[in-house]
Amino acid sequence: MRTQVAIIGAGPSGLLLGQLLHKAGIDNVIIERQSPDYVLGRIRAGILEQIMVDLLHEAGVGERVAKEGTVHHSIELVYKNTRHPIDVTGLTNGKVVTAYGQTEITRDLMDARQAAGLPTVYEAANVSIHGFDGAKPSVRYEIDGQTHELACDFIAGCDGFHGVCRATVQDSITEYEKVYPFGWVGLLADVPPVSPHAVVYANSERGFGLCSMRSLTRSRYYVQCPIDDKVEQWSDDRFWDELRRRLDPAMAEAIVTGPSIEKSIAPLRSFVAEPMRFGRLFLAGDAAHIVPPTGAKGLNLAASDVKYLSTAFIEHYAEKSDAGIDHYSQRALARVWRAERFSWWLTSLMHRFPDTGGFGQKVQEAELEYLVNSEAMSRSLAENYVGLPLDFGQR
Ligand code: APR
Ligand code: PHB
Repeated sequence: MRTQVAIIGAGPSGLLLGQLLHKAGIDNVIIERQSPDYVLGRIRAGILEQIMVDLLHEAGVGERVAKEGTVHHSIELVYKNTRHPIDVTGLTNGKVVTAYGQTEITRDLMDARQAAGLPTVYEAANVSIHGFDGAKPSVRYEIDGQTHELACDFIAGCDGFHGVCRATVQDSITEYEKVYPFGWVGLLADVPPVSPHAVVYANSERGFGLCSMRSLTRSRYYVQCPIDDKVEQWSDDRFWDELRRRLDPAMAEAIVTGPSIEKSIAPLRSFVAEPMRFGRLFLAGDAAHIVPPTGAKGLNLAASDVKYLSTAFIEHYAEKSDAGIDHYSQRALARVWRAERFSWWLTSLMHRFPDTGGFGQKVQEAELEYLVNSEAMSRSLAENYVGLPLDFGQR
């Protein structure tokens, strides 16, 4: 088998890249280790920057997000059990974010790929990549014990944090990593969200809390927990009680509780691998970087990588220019580090660390008070939250 771009991984990065390339007339095959149901079973964040929504439209899958996504114009910060709205739209010349689950994006992209009859190999075992240092890259994989080979011009490593692509070039990368000393318990429930038009970020002496949503009838909530906690230690009742204690009284009172339909504990990590290009291999999305979920930048960063990468491939084939390919790593990493900084900052401001103590708590509260009362600092939060422009900082 032969294609122009071999894409490893059918998460949002790989599927979005495949769709954008297809629209530009570039052949691509996706090789995925898991089954479609497994891929759709993963619960992840769901706050989209406009850049992501625009890309979904460009990829021809914008219909459902436009209809079913909920537009947010603000965020709410809670500290000392008091709520403070930040007018994100007013502070960014009209920009918004959209609440729409990653699972739904994946489903929309999968459906579009299937409708277009594009090749996707699911449940591929022992995927390996070869020859990307030279002119003839290829991908090998097994289906039912049979080895197959896919020859290609380029390989896009969209295979997430535990994928094979970054592992293959391990010796050529520099890794930057920060692991946080706590986790998040997340709970999904079919109850109306307490704050349907803004995500709520709560700093409290008991630790961080977050109120988000997937739709007007499905809520997603989180509380910070000790790193070693097991999900069995978090009954639904304990979760709801703890969340309420971290919010302001009016919101705690208004929250509608119900049985969880999913509950899990996730660790928090910041991670960047540099560079993101190795000859004819390109890393994109979680394969190259991880942000802690505070600020919901993970999926949005995957989207900007894919935008830079698809543009580079389109320039290569249509305009015979390799400028985009040559600049991919530098361009993507510049945006990655801005989002890494923002996610690290918001995580540091909102969580209780082992050494936070009384002094640290007071400093966090002073910073939050400055944030909500200073237009300059509110604007800084707002412009990062809606997403810095793709060409930010370029002259
Ligand atoms: N071979 C083929 N596929 C693989 C391999 C492999 N060796 N290893 C992993 N994969 C697949 C995974 O099964 C998964 O479906 O690659 C896919 C990677 O998808 P994600 O982990 O979702 O990563 P990405 O597509 O970059 O999505 C960006 O945004 O909100 C964040 O972290 C969140 O997943 C999200 C990310
Ligand atoms: C989510 O909806 O899961 C979510 C929203 C905002 C965040 C993190 C997670 O900052």
